Amino acid sequence: MQELSQPPTLSFENPFRPGAGHRPPFLAGRDEEISSICKLFEQSVVVQNVLLTGLRGVGKTVLLDSLKPRAQRMGWLWTSSDMSEVTSLTENNMVTRILTDISIVTSGYIISEEVHSTLGFLGKQHTIKKTLDYDFLKMIFDETSGLCTDKLKRVIEITCLILKSYGDNARRGIIFAYDEAQNMSDHPQQGQYPLSILLEVFQSLQKKEIPVLLILAGLPTLFPKLVDTRTYAERMFRITTLGHLSTEASREAIVKPIESENCPIKFTDETINTIIDITGGYPYFIQYICKEVFDIWISQPADNIPTIPVSDLLCKLDTDFFQGRWLLATDRQRDLLSVIAELEACDDEFTVQEVSTKSKELLQKGFNPSHISQMLSSLSAAGLVYRNRKGKYSLAVPLMSQFIKRQKAVQ
Ligand SMILES: Nc1ncnc2c1ncn2[C@@H]1O[C@H](COP(=O)(O)OP(=O)(O)OP(=O)(O)O)[C@@H](O)[C@H]1O
Ligand SMILES: [Mg+2]
Repeated sequence: MQELSQPPTLSFENPFRPGAGHRPPFLAGRDEEISSICKLFEQSVVVQNVLLTGLRGVGKTVLLDSLKPRAQRMGWLWTSSDMSEVTSLTENNMVTRILTDISIVTSGYIISEEVHSTLGFLGKQHTIKKTLDYDFLKMIFDETSGLCTDKLKRVIEITCLILKSYGDNARRGIIFAYDEAQNMSDHPQQGQYPLSILLEVFQSLQKKEIPVLLILAGLPTLFPKLVDTRTYAERMFRITTLGHLSTEASREAIVKPIESENCPIKFTDETINTIIDITGGYPYFIQYICKEVFDIWISQPADNIPTIPVSDLLCKLDTDFFQGRWLLATDRQRDLLSVIAELEACDDEFTVQEVSTKSKELLQKGFNPSHISQMLSSLSAAGLVYRNRKGKYSLAVPLMSQFIKRQKAVQ
């Protein structure tokens, strides 16, 4: 299937990068998303923040990373981290996260005497603090009275004032970019509300026209979680949902990385179409399959023109990617997932009632709706399905339905 363009050389490194957050050799098909997000970076008063969402492996992290240099060129300071469960375990942890993230980009800024006097710091012990580092931020936090949100707001407000004092060299403001944001939660039983604090602080600062912008990236469970936490979150964020790449973009993702003259392989149209077909245009799968195909080809004798071993590749993909997730489900949950995989809308969204009706068609002993709801909520906790705001469900892993059907075929 692949055409030999010149004798294979081992010097051309396999360019494909299947992985979590690994920058692809060519970021395909995201120009529209990038430019619509960059428009939000132009807001003189920030009224909308960014929410980047999509299933596993669609390219949220690499898109987020690609925004950083653009934002910096537009005059923003950019600070980012992954939101772990630990970060949002307590309000204190969230505060430490935010103060640390600010200090990473501000610690080189000097606090002038003029600013000290404007802020009423002169004569106080912390006038010795000359830079906008973590200790200074923490000191302001500790010395401000009120609730945790008041303290954080004050720290960020002062930070932005100091940045502004740089006049012509001032930065526009600070962008806080948080990946894996679906991990954040409030914990009412423990009296801890870290997610509420984050939303409240940004909403309130933006109302006061303080130049901070929040970008949250995460799985589709993220948006419902934000809105459940604070109803105004619905209006705070512009949502960008990433899906599979279009056929044209998939083609670019496959072809561009091997366009170089030194690359010993070229893919024919037939090969490209087969890869698009197997991968459904999902970025992670494109990187994965292309990497495998490249390796297989490069290890062939020069006079042999290999074909794509589709079933072997799918088998490897199943073992490497899907199997681990499948093992999280019990036998009964797998029966339910097999029923879901037979629904016409399995790759889109489905209702409990639809699953129940299908189960009665397919199984001797079907599932009743309340049992299905219960099981879907455990599958949701295991990261295999998710419930959207309309109360409908979707499979949380791309191409999972095809994997489930393959499993059944080998039983
Ligand atoms: N637009 C794209 N073109 C080509 N490859 C891409 C594109 N976007 C992402 N990829 C590749 O897809 C894989 C997954 O990307 P990434 O880790 O950013 O996904 P994600 O949505 O953050 O996944 P997760 O939900 O697991 O965090 C990576 O190997 C990356 O190189
Ligand atoms: Mg990611």
